[in-house]
Amino acid sequence: MSLSAPIKVAVTGAAGNVGYALVFRIAAGQMLGAGQPVHLSLIEIPPAMRQAEGVAMELEDCAFPLLDGIDVTDSAEEGFDGVQHALLVGSRPRGAGESRADLVGSNLPIFRSQGQALNARAADDVRVTVVGNPANLNALIAHRHAPDIPASRVTALTRLDHNRAVSLVARTAGVRPDQVADVAIWGNHSATQYPCLAHATIDGHRDWPLFSDQAWIEEQFIPRIQNRGAEVIEVRGASSAASAAVAVTDHVRDWHLGTGGDRTTSMAIVGEGQYDTPPGVVFSFPVRVRDGEIEVVSGLQLTPFDRRMVDVTGKDLLELRLTADAFLS
Ligand code: NAD
Ligand code: LMR
Repeated sequence: MSLSAPIKVAVTGAAGNVGYALVFRIAAGQMLGAGQPVHLSLIEIPPAMRQAEGVAMELEDCAFPLLDGIDVTDSAEEGFDGVQHALLVGSRPRGAGESRADLVGSNLPIFRSQGQALNARAADDVRVTVVGNPANLNALIAHRHAPDIPASRVTALTRLDHNRAVSLVARTAGVRPDQVADVAIWGNHSATQYPCLAHATIDGHRDWPLFSDQAWIEEQFIPRIQNRGAEVIEVRGASSAASAAVAVTDHVRDWHLGTGGDRTTSMAIVGEGQYDTPPGVVFSFPVRVRDGEIEVVSGLQLTPFDRRMVDVTGKDLLELRLTADAFLS
């Protein structure tokens, strides 16, 4: 099989928990496809450089046919040079009892300087996926400091929430996850997010009891998805890592290769006021990807309940943006 030119993928925080679970999936071809070689750029901070070098050694030891090369660096400028997919993971995770917004002070400056470094050094067609929390706000900060990168090329990860929602629907209905479609995550990757089943189907149908069980949706489904990250931290003693890595792989694969057919997923993008949501914040919507472009699913009818939920998470994002403005001024 003839292979295309390698794509350069940068992963910040590559020696951390999410990074460690992620880079092997990328090198195995699970993110960009089985015919696509990758060049990995592992970016860490100086105290974690030795660990990152150890990760690179393990990658070499896997003899992945698609792994064209690996760089390890503690310089974002160097690591982002010519990068086509930048996966911004490196940052502090929250601990038990903290909210993701508590990470603003420690994490926002990272995304400001990485936005600047991407602006200076990334490839013209770079696509940026922000994972580090608070993810939507960090993506907005990176976007603001990367004026030459089109807004349409900056996203934040809500695919983990999306996958959690699909899985909970599937487990509740007793079906496989791939029978579930059109679940959507609206808004912020926080406890205000709106995991929405208003248009979801199983095997293409809505006549499943759980979709009309509003009590289950409001009292069980929504709070469980909204709080799943905290639940994992409480039970595992550490923030989700492998499931996050799978979600990053899913998010970037869909962005790179397209969602295919009518399938929808959820991505947080720089909003333009779609569905009367606040413009200029990074907001998660139901989307499709065609020819590399992310399109918000149009024409969905929102019930008064949907509207309230979407407005609550929009308000959360506006308040976070104010906090960030005060912090960075
Ligand atoms: P971790 O502490 O295990 O690893 C973080 C790594 O980032 C460390 O190796 C650290 O040295 C590195 N790092 C810190 N600052 C850096 C910088 N400026 N440049 C490069 N590397 C840097 O944490 P983790 O469990 O891997 O989580 C990483 C982040 O991802 C956290 O903010 C966490 O909350 C977030 N997260 C988001 C989602 C999501 O769905 N959006 C899911 C899981 C985790
Ligand atoms: C998650 O959703 O698991 C991550 O954002 C980690 C966290 O802090 O909850």
